[in-house]
Amino acid sequence: MNKPDRKDMQKKITKIGVLCSGGDSPGMNACIRAVVRTGIYHGMKVYGIMRGYSGMVEDDIFEMESRSVANIIQRGGTILKTARCSEFFTHEGRKKAYDNLKKRGIEGLVIIGGDGSFRGAQTFSNEFDIPCIGLPGTIDKDIAGTDFTIGFDTAVNTAVEAIDKIRDTADAHDRMFIIEVMGRDAGYIALHSGIATGAENILIPERKTIINDIIESLQEKERRKKLVNLIIVAEGEEFGGANELSKFIKNKLPTLEVRVCILGHIQRGGSPTCMDRLIASRMGYHAVECLMEGKHNVFVGIVNNKMNYTPLNEAVKKKQRISEEWMKIVKILAT
Ligand code: F6P
Repeated sequence: MNKPDRKDMQKKITKIGVLCSGGDSPGMNACIRAVVRTGIYHGMKVYGIMRGYSGMVEDDIFEMESRSVANIIQRGGTILKTARCSEFFTHEGRKKAYDNLKKRGIEGLVIIGGDGSFRGAQTFSNEFDIPCIGLPGTIDKDIAGTDFTIGFDTAVNTAVEAIDKIRDTADAHDRMFIIEVMGRDAGYIALHSGIATGAENILIPERKTIINDIIESLQEKERRKKLVNLIIVAEGEEFGGANELSKFIKNKLPTLEVRVCILGHIQRGGSPTCMDRLIASRMGYHAVECLMEGKHNVFVGIVNNKMNYTPLNEAVKKKQRISEEWMKIVKILAT
């Protein structure tokens, strides 16, 4: 008799849940759409869970249809809303969540979020018999195991558009600007938008800010009458962000005209770019395939344009690393 293969032996998953957790990111809606429609295509029932893990704990769960996700691919934010849920940090909270899924017969979960959300999924799947698939939805791009995260491209393009505008007025007035972009723990938005806008300096949490070097470089530029300088600062940069830096520079170089612009949450909103819609659609589709194929407790990434699956327990340990080469490019090009 033929031995049944692994796939045949697996219990077929017929009901799945999808949620967004942590900070929202443009493309989350495209991703929900892909999960819902792929699940329905495979004959599953798909449940939307409101406000991340909070909806699981509070039983705010509803069945979705193909039409529930019509006309959302182009919209920022998330129709399922998102939240950070402290109750889910406790075993009691997670047990409550489990019971709410179980009573509906939900057998698999797709979690769209960042590394904190993956940590929750990892703990939950260790404790209970509901497999979890993570999808990297964060503008920060700070997850190892994927070249891009859902929302990063849109956020960077929003930042680039804003910085280009700032350069126009900076140039007209011969001023320097310090522009703060998002990234509490990660400098990718700063690095990508800074290189793309020809910034003179880029300060990120992953690198030490050597303030004397910045002052010396500004003095040198002042001597050769280069007065338009854009410094891009990630919000989590160690010196204290754009305002602190501006105070310090004004004090040291009183002849320089310095202005600050903090881009803030506009970077998290807006219609997703084509790139974000595409990766969200591909990742959402593959998340459902993972649940069906028994590829459980992984997060779905894309590396070199191919799907890449990283176990959740590895994903929560590793961070993306900023390459030295990129830092060198910044230095050489910003003269
Ligand atoms: O989504 C990630 C992120 O944008 C970080 O870069 C930022 O520091 C953080 O979220 C801010 O989140 P919130 O406004 O939700 O506190």
